[in-house]
Amino acid sequence: MRLRRRKNLLPRLQSVSGLIWDGRTPGDRRELFVEVGCGMGGFITRLAEKRPDCLFLAAERDANVAVRAMELTRALGLTNLFFHLGGADTLELEEGSVSGIYLNFSDPWPRRGHAHRRLTHPEYLVRYAAMLTPGGRLEMKTDNPGLFAYSRKVLTEGGWKIAALDLNLSEGNGNIATEYETRFRERGIPVLYLSARLPGF
Ligand SMILES: C[S@@+](CC[C@H](N)C(=O)[O-])C[C@H]1O[C@@H](n2cnc3c(N)ncnc32)[C@H](O)[C@@H]1O
Repeated sequence: MRLRRRKNLLPRLQSVSGLIWDGRTPGDRRELFVEVGCGMGGFITRLAEKRPDCLFLAAERDANVAVRAMELTRALGLTNLFFHLGGADTLELEEGSVSGIYLNFSDPWPRRGHAHRRLTHPEYLVRYAAMLTPGGRLEMKTDNPGLFAYSRKVLTEGGWKIAALDLNLSEGNGNIATEYETRFRERGIPVLYLSARLPGF
């Protein structure tokens, strides 16, 4: 977890500590969805509001933004959304327990030497594949053509099936915009979207 502390961070985190995921896959039978890099939580809180029949887990390694997502969750009274204060590499979930993984406007890490940090690097894809249920999906949105092209390539090479692809995702049709997405749309930057499924589905 990143603790480049802003004012009052620790007391703020303490006041929402009930939302911290305890590291176990919930024993609850509801479907589980995960967002990696939730930022201030605009996307995952709206999704959790829309789908009270499902459980949501948001991973965010920057505690300064995670605390804002957690405060929003508390203010909305959501009881089906929990947080992992850490990186995707420290997310340990039972095999086959996750129905969907969302990567929204992940850091692009454009330098080749930093490719291992991209959230669609093959090492991450192996982790996601293990977590997903048969037929589970990975969805990504980005403004970054380089990250998008890289992700399509490594997903395809890894045997994933690209089930949906949109090079200019529209605002409507049930799409939930993230904070970054809203900023990019305001600047006229197209949103790139894909949904990928594991082999065999
Ligand atoms: C560009 S922001 C996008 C935030 C949000 N998803 C949105 O679309 O508005 C990327 C976020 O991912 C987080 N992040 C980056 N790498 C991560 C990792 N390996 N694990 C968890 N969070 C990560 C960053 O701290 C940051 O909050």
